[in-house]
Amino acid sequence: MKTVKVGLLGIGNVGSGTYKALEMNSAAIEKSAGVHLEIVRILNRRPEAKRAVDVPKEKYTADPYEIINDPEIQIIVEVMGGVEPATTYMADALKTGKHVVTANKAALAVNGKMLQQLAMDHHVMLRFEASVGGGIPIINAVADPLVSNQYDEVLGILNGTTNYILTKMTENGADYAEVLKDAQAKGLAEADPTADVEGHDVANKLSILISLLFGKQVLPQDIPTQGITSVSGLDINYATEFGYRIKLIAHARKENGRLICSVEPTLLPLSHPMAAVSNEFNAVFVRGNAVDELMFYGKGAGPLPTGSAVLGDVIDIANCIAKGAAFDVQPLLHYDSDLEVIGEGMAQYYLRLTAVDQPGVLGNIASTFAKHDIGLKSVMQRAGINDKKTSVPLIFIIYETEYKTLMSALDEIREKNFAKSIDAVMRVQER
Ligand code: HSE
Repeated sequence: MKTVKVGLLGIGNVGSGTYKALEMNSAAIEKSAGVHLEIVRILNRRPEAKRAVDVPKEKYTADPYEIINDPEIQIIVEVMGGVEPATTYMADALKTGKHVVTANKAALAVNGKMLQQLAMDHHVMLRFEASVGGGIPIINAVADPLVSNQYDEVLGILNGTTNYILTKMTENGADYAEVLKDAQAKGLAEADPTADVEGHDVANKLSILISLLFGKQVLPQDIPTQGITSVSGLDINYATEFGYRIKLIAHARKENGRLICSVEPTLLPLSHPMAAVSNEFNAVFVRGNAVDELMFYGKGAGPLPTGSAVLGDVIDIANCIAKGAAFDVQPLLHYDSDLEVIGEGMAQYYLRLTAVDQPGVLGNIASTFAKHDIGLKSVMQRAGINDKKTSVPLIFIIYETEYKTLMSALDEIREKNFAKSIDAVMRVQER
């Protein structure tokens, strides 16, 4: 049986999960794939750190180029995270004719085009299943069994940390800060949770999905992105009263030559299949022109689920090496579509305003919306927020409108002091 040697750049969560998944399943892999996979060298930048797997010390090196330049290693697995130095290491590995498997969404979102070109130029593979949705096999599915489709829309719950926090806020009526602490204690949120809770992690993943599904490069910084730090328990409760769940949704849709995209807290009707995706689970929902609606569900983070996706790519490549087959079925990021990227487009919105409880206030606000041709779908006023009843929350759900139009109407409401404050603006995704 042919042995394929693998080098691992990183032995953190994902690296350990990959190593462990191979240990757990090596006999089954040999039987089904017909190759013996061996992780022979591992970049360990912190040799003193305790690792979740028991690795023979002689496999460790602190020098990435001992792995990248090792002529016996055919596949490099990059699981270090971060744009640099990971991009440089991957580029150098591809240039030396090694196949690369990565879980690195940040590096791919920014440098995927260059890395893919290098892979093509050097006739090697660049595989990245684990970069989006952890263990969910969305990327290879789009490239292989779903290749006959063109896509109109994708919705994703692509971050386990934020989905866990929103779930607990919904179930327990708990505050964001309290739930974040609990998530950190359970190891479901990083000590520095910024990239997760501010939506940057999801923007990287959506950028990759947009290249894959819509053939356009939209850099993460060009995707309108809002995290969950400003989602309040109040909005979660009002959303529930109206029959919705609030989820951090990555969204992209093709519409009349335009590409609408955003990452933001979004209201989904309880009947939407994505509304039921709870805790640290992820899901990706796509609409293809042949397959129609399709949803993928699973663990989007964690050492073993992510390691499973990494290892799947490694096995595919090893299989091709063993058979001497061509590396022709692989997911490709595309960048050449002429879609106009406009960020936020047409949508329904949930609005929460605070206004003085006196005659004419609601009328003024409603007239301003009417002037901007914005239709009101649902309206609710709650009295008694304080003893003097001077301020009340006003909740609106408005019919589909352009985001820019909504912003103009809200500016006018602010300028004319029709409301004391505009406290929440969230997209509503009906289907
Ligand atoms: N930190 C991410 C999450 C997993 O919480 O889902 C890695 O992308």
